[in-house]
Formats: sequence, structure tokens, C-alpha cells
Amino acid sequence: LDTRATRRLSLTTTSGSSSFFGGPATPTAGYSQGYLGPTILMQNGDLAAEVKNTLDEPISTHWHGLLTPGEHDGSPHLAIAPGGTWQPEMTIAQDPATIWYHSHIHERTAEQVYFGLAGVIHVTDGQDDARGLPSTYGVDDLTLVLQDRRFDASGRMVYDPSMMDIMHGFAGNRMLVNGQAGATAVVPQGIVRLRLLNGSNARIYTLFFDDLRAMHLVATDGGFLPTPVDLDTLRLAPGERAEILVDFSGGNEPVLMSDPGQAYGVLQFETDTTLATRITRLPEQLDGAPEDLSGAEIATTRQVSLDMGMGGMMMGGGGFAINGHPYEMDRIDFEVARGTVERWQIRSTMVAHPFHVHGVRFRVVTENGGPPRPENTGWKDTVLVSGEAEILARFDQPASRKTPFMFHCHILEHEDAGMMGQFTVT
Ligand code: C2O
Ligand code: CU
Ligand code: CU
Repeated sequence: LDTRATRRLSLTTTSGSSSFFGGPATPTAGYSQGYLGPTILMQNGDLAAEVKNTLDEPISTHWHGLLTPGEHDGSPHLAIAPGGTWQPEMTIAQDPATIWYHSHIHERTAEQVYFGLAGVIHVTDGQDDARGLPSTYGVDDLTLVLQDRRFDASGRMVYDPSMMDIMHGFAGNRMLVNGQAGATAVVPQGIVRLRLLNGSNARIYTLFFDDLRAMHLVATDGGFLPTPVDLDTLRLAPGERAEILVDFSGGNEPVLMSDPGQAYGVLQFETDTTLATRITRLPEQLDGAPEDLSGAEIATTRQVSLDMGMGGMMMGGGGFAINGHPYEMDRIDFEVARGTVERWQIRSTMVAHPFHVHGVRFRVVTENGGPPRPENTGWKDTVLVSGEAEILARFDQPASRKTPFMFHCHILEHEDAGMMGQFTVT
């Protein structure tokens, strides 16, 4: 394997139609397929990417979780016009992680992602066998994109947010997993790795198995944990990823469920004895070592208030803002000194907001004054803030005034309505 050769990645947006639940065709969009995009395998090294936009509206393509300079980040400043092509030449240099890509165009992110402009990326180093982790894609290593979508009585997928939907984020009435309605996952009778992405616009999942079997958390947004963490339930907010190991050796066929509200089925599992079982024991140790930034020198402490209602109303706009300012493409909110560690104290108002920062991975130090939840103990780029959270990040990737990094709520309706800001790293 020549790791120095430049790899190529080519994506082309497509507009098509998909039918779900046997209903009438719904117009959808995707990257190189009818709905969503292919799962991309990335390894460290040079990558020449190309994104062609064949749609009749501008898009952008943000690599959510990729540690890359602002000029390659795919933010709203890197719009691809209808008929246009964007060709970032990137260098991938980061730990293995499950990350994703999605459109990020100003005020249109929610609708474009809803109708399909999103996909998953595995950053891999090819060492998962040595780690004792399942890694046979689609067999014992499943990528699951969880999305709720709204279907009308005729079975058509619709997006028509009311004022209330924008307040709470647009929620669906049915679940899609990898764009499939009512799918079943077929797995071998052994240890299976599930890479979960909450690709929903707004819904927060609290996942559990109906037979209450353990979920062994091995990786969060930005990479592996030091050891697996056993959970009965796993909370996953929009934009977040989690990798879990689940033991299917008993042959029982559980349903992955979600709460809160009324518990509902997300995905049925079936075991197949003809599938080779490669991994039968949980690894005791992983090689993830999320850097403990709490001893680092803190260059700056910032307060970030995720405003809704009166707090955001003060500066005009619909009430969605950060620190009182609704997002504006030509306002830089602050400048970060490259290579320094900052502490951000984030506060939510009215509802819980999944807070995301571009260009970094961060550690969550406290949530509401206490230690972080188990889901938030590794490298993160998105954290659900319900009250207060404190994060530490080192800003290594550069971002200029022309192509700054975004920080925002990942409830996409909130983001589009103004709960977003931007910063440079120089
Ligand atoms: Cu996943 Cu700024 O986004
Ligand atoms: Cu991002
Ligand atoms: Cu929000």
C-alpha cells in the first residue's frame, strides 16, 4: 500500500425521487445516489476531493469531524453554485473516527440535509484487527444513520416546518435507518460494531435494546476511548456519533429502541449463523488516549450563550442567536490564536441544544458543574448542552476571515434561523 499516493474522491449531487413505506415517490437528493451519499473510507495522506453540484440551487459540503483548515471545511463560505465543482486538496492526518459530511449552505442546511445531502466517513488506519475490533464493513461493522422523517397520509416525505417546528426543531413521525424504512439488520452471532450517526435535523435519541443487553461504547465523535464503557442507554443528539460493540452470540434477536416520550423501535436485529463470526470477545483495552487538556495553559475563556426567545430577540432576527447576535456571513465573532487551548463555557436557553464546533475536537470537562456523562468522556465535536457545559479545545487548524470556522447548534432549524457564529484561527 503506497500511503503517499494522492487518493481521489469524487461526489456528484443527484436529484431523484425515492419512495418509502411503499408510498408515492418523494423528491430526494443525494451524493452520487438517490438519497444520502456513499460511506467513504479515508486514510491519512493526501486526498484530492471533487464535489460536483448538479442541483439547481447552491450547496456546500462540510466534512463534519475532519480536522482540516477553514479553506477545505465546506462551510457556507464555500458554496458550490449550480453546475459548479469544488476541488479541495486536503491532507488527512487524524486518529481513526466515524465522521460525516453534509451540505451546509446558509439558511438552507436543514432542508438540504433533510432531503438527503449527507453521508458517513470512516477515517481508518487499517489497524482494527490488531485492536480486536470488528471491521468487516456491512457484516460485523455496521454504519447506521438514524433519521426521523415526516410522512403525510399518502406516504410522501414532507418538510413544511411551522413556527413551532422551528422552535423545537423539525421532528418526523417515522424512522429511517440508512434511508430505509422498516429495515432489519442481519448480523453474525458474535460481537458486532455499530457506528451510529444521529443524522436527524432535531431529534435526540436515548437508545437501548429491548432486552436491555449492554452497549459497549468504544468511540465517540473524534476517536476511540481508552477502554470500552458499558452502557444500558446511549444518548445521541443531532450531529453526534458513537461506536458501540454489541454481543449477539446468544442468538436472540433484539430491537434497538429509543426513548424518551413513547419508546419506539428504531431497528430490528436478526442473527444469521451462516455469517462468519470473527470477534467473539470484547477488547479489554483500546488504544484511544483522548488528551487530557485540563492541565494545559488556557489562553482564553469564552462564554457562549445559545439564545432563543428574548435573549436572541434583542439584536433583531427571529430570536435565534449566539450571545445575542444572529448569524451573519460577514461578521467574525472572535479570533483564536492558533495552537492555543481555550475554555468555552456554553449555556443553553429554553431547550437542550447540540453544540458543534468546526475545525477541532474538544474535551467536555464539566456538565452542569459535575463530571461529563459517559457518552461525553472522549474526543467530541458536538455536545448536547442542557444547562451548562464547559469544553477545552486546542485550535491547531487555521481559518482565515474568508473561510472562517463555524460554531453552532446542530438542530438544523436553529442553525438556519441564526444560532450560529464564526471565528478565525490565525
Ligand atoms: Cu455538521 Cu457545521 O455542521
Ligand atoms: Cu462540522
Ligand atoms: Cu438549538
